[in-house]
Amino acid sequence: MQDGFGRRITYVRMSVTDRCDFRCVYCMPERMRFLPRAEVLSLEEMATLGRAFVACGVRKLRLTGGEPLVRRDVMGLVRALGGLIGQGLDELTLTTNGSQLARYAADLYAAGVRRVNVSVDSLRPERFAAITRRGKLAGVLEGIEAAAAAGLRVKLNTVALRGVNDDEFDDLLAWCGVRGFDLCLIETMPMGEVDEDRTDHYLPLTEVRADLRRRWTLEPSDWRSGGPARYEMVRETGTRIGFITPMTHNFCESCNRVRVTCTGELYLCLGQEDRADLRGVLRAGGDVAAAIRAAMAFKPRGHDFVIGRDQRPAVARTMSLTGG
Ligand code: 5AD
Ligand code: SF4
Repeated sequence: MQDGFGRRITYVRMSVTDRCDFRCVYCMPERMRFLPRAEVLSLEEMATLGRAFVACGVRKLRLTGGEPLVRRDVMGLVRALGGLIGQGLDELTLTTNGSQLARYAADLYAAGVRRVNVSVDSLRPERFAAITRRGKLAGVLEGIEAAAAAGLRVKLNTVALRGVNDDEFDDLLAWCGVRGFDLCLIETMPMGEVDEDRTDHYLPLTEVRADLRRRWTLEPSDWRSGGPARYEMVRETGTRIGFITPMTHNFCESCNRVRVTCTGELYLCLGQEDRADLRGVLRAGGDVAAAIRAAMAFKPRGHDFVIGRDQRPAVARTMSLTGG
């Protein structure tokens, strides 16, 4: 499947739910209003969509949210999609906040999942609680341990926040290093209204990387995990550090992915409004694969995120709706 710019689209991120048990300050307002359930696809509908994407040539599916593991019976969907591995699908992965991972790690592995991304913005319990507004670090660390014990490869995702966790990247890297985990740093993106001004905490990763180089030996690596991260090998740990830099380095030219919201809207770009309503097609009994293929022609060239004081978010929807 190709878009209008000749990019091959082989990767779909599906948001399983917009709900989450955390309220990360950069992601959601404290009093987040979630979608009415009738708007959200059933798990069967999501499985149908997954099959249609694989029929269209998609090789990698990632389940995200919100927090995918807070959706009831989500494992039924994971198993259904896991069944597509080897039948056109190469990989099924999950992005999670880790709060429910201790409970599900073994089942995820049994369903065919081999890698999970866990979002951890701090390894200090009080700071972690402040960023997530209600998360408990201990439970997440337990989940990470369970995931590793179950045989899942773990990558940590950390949103870099000036004045919040910018003194912790060495600790995070060292912590990941001894466990054999890769670490991926992410720049904040202007998605959805939150309670604070993102400009206050925006931290360009060019700065972070230059600082890390004073204490760590970062060696170029062309390893790719299928997403937008650019990696370097950390000689001291033998693990990788990734940088997701939507703000300082736009990676749109090599974009291989699209996203589906939990309401069945196919978003062609994280930072644009272009979308197709797959729920309507599904519920009308239409040809979902044909609708997916037709939508590719409208994938925009790229996003134009800017972070500035008093700027409105580039898109009104939060990451938790579109899927990170
Ligand atoms: N900017 C950058 N990263 C974000 N995430 C959620 N909202 C934003 C945002 N506005 C992160 C989460 C998770 C990943 C899926 O996206 O912390 O690690
Ligand atoms: Fe939940 Fe992830 Fe958003 Fe945090 S960033 S509130 S864990 S969806």
